[in-house]
Amino acid sequence: MIQIPRGTYDVMPEDSGVWQKIEEVARETCALFNYKEIRTPIFESTDLFQRGVGDTTDIVQKEMYNFTDRGERRLTLRPEGTASVVRAFVEHKLYGDPQQPVKLYYIGPMFRYERPQSGRNRQFTQFGAEALGSKDPAIDAEMIALALTFYRKLGLKKLKLVLNSLGDPESRKAHRDALINHFKPSIGEFCSDCQERLEKNPLRILDCKKDHGHPLMATAPSIIDYLTDEARDYFEQVKLTLDAIGITYELDPTLVRGLDYYNHTTFEIMGATGSAISTLAGGGRYNGLVSELGGPETAGVGFALSIERLLIALESEGITLQTGNQLDCYLAAIGAEAEKKAAVLLHQLRQNGIRADKDYLGRKVKGQFKAADREQAAYVLVIGDEELANGQANVKNMTDGSQERVAFDEVSTYLKNKINH
Ligand code: HAM
Repeated sequence: MIQIPRGTYDVMPEDSGVWQKIEEVARETCALFNYKEIRTPIFESTDLFQRGVGDTTDIVQKEMYNFTDRGERRLTLRPEGTASVVRAFVEHKLYGDPQQPVKLYYIGPMFRYERPQSGRNRQFTQFGAEALGSKDPAIDAEMIALALTFYRKLGLKKLKLVLNSLGDPESRKAHRDALINHFKPSIGEFCSDCQERLEKNPLRILDCKKDHGHPLMATAPSIIDYLTDEARDYFEQVKLTLDAIGITYELDPTLVRGLDYYNHTTFEIMGATGSAISTLAGGGRYNGLVSELGGPETAGVGFALSIERLLIALESEGITLQTGNQLDCYLAAIGAEAEKKAAVLLHQLRQNGIRADKDYLGRKVKGQFKAADREQAAYVLVIGDEELANGQANVKNMTDGSQERVAFDEVSTYLKNKINH
């Protein structure tokens, strides 16, 4: 038997209502904050991620699904959304749009060849947002507020915002030199990847999964001590804006993130996830990415979160989402003539916006009521010989058990008045 690939999963019909609900809340939240949806391809040129996410990152070095198509093009299943959004921003010259900053969001599958565990999948779904074209520290705060508002709308309470700044290129250069000096004498004790990263990108040593326990990690120079006055001032402004809107945070100078494009603000939102990975969302500012990908100097900031980790957090906080996928009305028919009438009524109900269904397996009336129960139908409409003779259906309210007779041609209006969606 052929099985599903490792690290992937099926969203089965009993669960897809929850996914739809989450996506609906994501879209609502983006509308509140005035972010518009962008949809980009699931595969892109491999070069895009090598340049965008960074050649020395774990994502590019170890986790990408790369392939060559029949035209010998080097392509990659996208491991994240920011590089694609920036590519589209440049390709469609959105920097010339009169409406600035350009505020975008996306929901879709991402792919990383990681070791699967709870909250770590090889195909996962990200909801992310990006704001391009503004350096205002208030937009960093807006991005964080958007993510938190989304989580709170879904009912999550145990959230912690962790904040850091990676500074500007000058701060980064000073920090880079300090890191090289710190690690160089003992670099032989580190894995081969870290040895290679030392000169290329020493910041990446700090998020190495193999060497994270090495004592030199804890004593490594902190970026915060190398921020230029300008970068420090920028970070202060972000914090002041968060303070002003009542968003609390913890500072963590070790928060460097796993992608190369960040500078200035970086952040993660942590949640209660039992023993699973607790980072629910991550993001930050990336002022150099647009020009790196061939566009004009343009500031950017964004975040992404996965629905998989959100589901774990919802479960550990004991939150069940109301999905609203229940049936309004189930038609139970007894006898061949009643069947025919039921088929006509069923079509009418649906045309009138009532979610309705009937039996297609020739079940007895008891079986039809059972089916109605399984669908959590709000009403059951019974049609037998007597109802046919009177021209009325017997409508049973499944919540309180009450029953009423309603003329066939009034059933739609009757149910429409009872149902509110
Ligand atoms: P990231 O930290 O690599 O950042 O991923 C963001 C979020 O995606 C994580 O916090 C986590 O919720 C989820 N995630 C990542 N990998 C997996 C996985 N294997 N399984 C399940 N969930 C996962 C980015 O992707 C950046 N593009 C975020 C960003 C947008 N920065 C600026 N704009």
